[in-house]
Amino acid sequence: MSNKWSPESWRSKDIIQVPQYRDQDALNSVEARLKSYPPLVFAGEARELRHQLAEVAEGRAFLLQGGDCAESFAEFHPDNIRDTFRVLLQMSVVLTYGGSLPVVKVGRIAGQFAKPRSADTETQEGVELPSYRGDIINAIDFNAEAREPDPERLIQAYGQSAATLNLLRAFAQGGFADLTNVHKWTLGFLANSPQNDRYQELADRITDAMNFMMACGITSETAPQLHQTDFYTSHEALLLGYEQAMTRIDSTSGDWYDTSAHMVWIGDRTRQPDGAHVEFFRGIKNPIGMKCGPSLDPDELIHLCDILNPENIPGRMTLIARFGSDKVAEGLPRLIRKVKAEGRKVVWSCDPMHGNTIKAGNTGYKTRPFDRILSEVQQFFAIHQAEGTHAGGVHFEMTGQDVTECLGGAQAISEEDLSSRYHTHCDPRLNASQALELAFLLADGIKKERGLFSEGAAAAGF
Ligand code: PEP
Ligand code: CO
Repeated sequence: MSNKWSPESWRSKDIIQVPQYRDQDALNSVEARLKSYPPLVFAGEARELRHQLAEVAEGRAFLLQGGDCAESFAEFHPDNIRDTFRVLLQMSVVLTYGGSLPVVKVGRIAGQFAKPRSADTETQEGVELPSYRGDIINAIDFNAEAREPDPERLIQAYGQSAATLNLLRAFAQGGFADLTNVHKWTLGFLANSPQNDRYQELADRITDAMNFMMACGITSETAPQLHQTDFYTSHEALLLGYEQAMTRIDSTSGDWYDTSAHMVWIGDRTRQPDGAHVEFFRGIKNPIGMKCGPSLDPDELIHLCDILNPENIPGRMTLIARFGSDKVAEGLPRLIRKVKAEGRKVVWSCDPMHGNTIKAGNTGYKTRPFDRILSEVQQFFAIHQAEGTHAGGVHFEMTGQDVTECLGGAQAISEEDLSSRYHTHCDPRLNASQALELAFLLADGIKKERGLFSEGAAAAGF
């Protein structure tokens, strides 16, 4: 590999999972326009996230990363952004209170548009068309025009990301996230669920603690941590032309940052050590993630760490394990052992979604059984406990909406229920109730890891 990196050095490498644009001049002109647009995030924020992730790597914090599988232009609405933000806030409160650890909150949001696909084309009733690759590339409708990659979509994705981020910043810093609002984050449709009762109980306890602190003179005016929160954005940096256009030199440090999000990750399909995606990622200084699936060999993982984090900077790399509940016990321990033996400082996170996707028998819907998702998370915790390493975080595909995309959970969503509210543009997401349920179970897992063992942890299978 040549050592000279530049934002465009990926262009001389082999690349997969990218579209073929018919009009290259139009694409070039869009990329040039984007290059002149304001950054979406600042390098200093990305550095702050890296410091917080370093705390996770050291076992002193927990990472909660979640959001849509694919954001879409059609579902762009302030209510959707608010609902995703508030279910993440609820989960974070549950985890912070239950696990007594700070929670680093990172949304799969404000840029999560491009999707890797298992096949280049899709065939319906004898008609073959290019696959849908996410709204930043083409449209989901099944006709030739919709499936044609359109460069103008990069501009629309940038605009939607900017507006989404603007609202998220307002929510995080403008008072919505004030802990005195802990009761108000509940989503209406959860009103009569067991999770909601549990959440309200917890919110009561937090409010009691806040009242006590207030009596001692600590209020959200005197302690800004109670009034606002840090919330970061992330997405899979798949469409490298877009990411390159957003990559800028930080005037403070002189380093390159991809300013499309605070954190970006490499997907399980595009992590070839000599491929274009790894080449792009090695030169940006953002904290980065890498999906680790069953095909990843331990030696190759170390090779990738050498390329992507040669100085072994804690917080730079988050390894997102996504094996599937039936493969994690075999595949994860050897990666953890190798990383530990080589002294690499990483955040270990668990994506219990992508290895647990099935086709529902009768209906043909892509779905994920809640039981398998939970089982992968439980095994992830148990494996880390056995290896003496920190189960650092989780990575969920989830929404604040009341969808029916994953089977099971306390609402017992059945195969027959899937069709009633199946809205995802790509993979099935946990709904708000399932996400909150998982957060309670996770809090028990963290408690156990920290020696704060409770009856809840035993009941939750940790
Ligand atoms: C995703 O996170 O949406 C995804 C495609 O994951 P993976 O790369 O792990 O398959
Ligand atoms: Co997905």
